[in-house]
Amino acid sequence: MLSCIGGRYFGYYAQSSSQEMLGFYIGEYVAGESTLMDICVNPRAQNQGIGKQLLHHYHQQAQALGTELSFLEVRAKNIAALMLYINQGYVEISRRTGYYPAETGYEDAIVMRKSFT
Ligand SMILES: CC(C)(COP(=O)(O)OP(=O)(O)OC[C@H]1O[C@@H](n2cnc3c(N)ncnc32)[C@H](O)[C@@H]1OP(=O)(O)O)[C@@H](O)C(=O)NCCC(=O)NCCS
Repeated sequence: MLSCIGGRYFGYYAQSSSQEMLGFYIGEYVAGESTLMDICVNPRAQNQGIGKQLLHHYHQQAQALGTELSFLEVRAKNIAALMLYINQGYVEISRRTGYYPAETGYEDAIVMRKSFT
């Protein structure tokens, strides 16, 4: 987390009126391409549209920086995140077999891309 603050990284967080952290994202911009490094919504605040709003915010910031392509990686079994990304225009471009440690064994990473052009 600390290595993703400042420099080529950008981000945003959402909080409630009582200043409870609701969620955040971290993006990285380099030479016309952005990567969504992390996006997370407080379990108590999930399924209320906050993840979608954070992803829209990431897209706006990324485009303002000059992004033409956005990339991300997601666990193959993370259905909530996969559906969020697919519904916002991401397509699978490759898989990294056994990339993530899982409770038993390993899990594939799906690499996804969205084009803004
Ligand atoms: C993935 C995550 C960020 C989604 O945030 P959220 O605020 O719960 O999502 P939203 O309420 O904005 O829902 C946005 C879309 O996500 C999808 N979605 C969210 N939860 C879902 C679920 N349980 N099952 C299927 N689809 C789901 C839907 O497509 C939904 O769109 P819809 O409401 O129009 O159908 C959240 O579940 C999270 O923080 N998970 C843990 C961290 C994580 O896995 N981050 C992603 C790492 S790649």
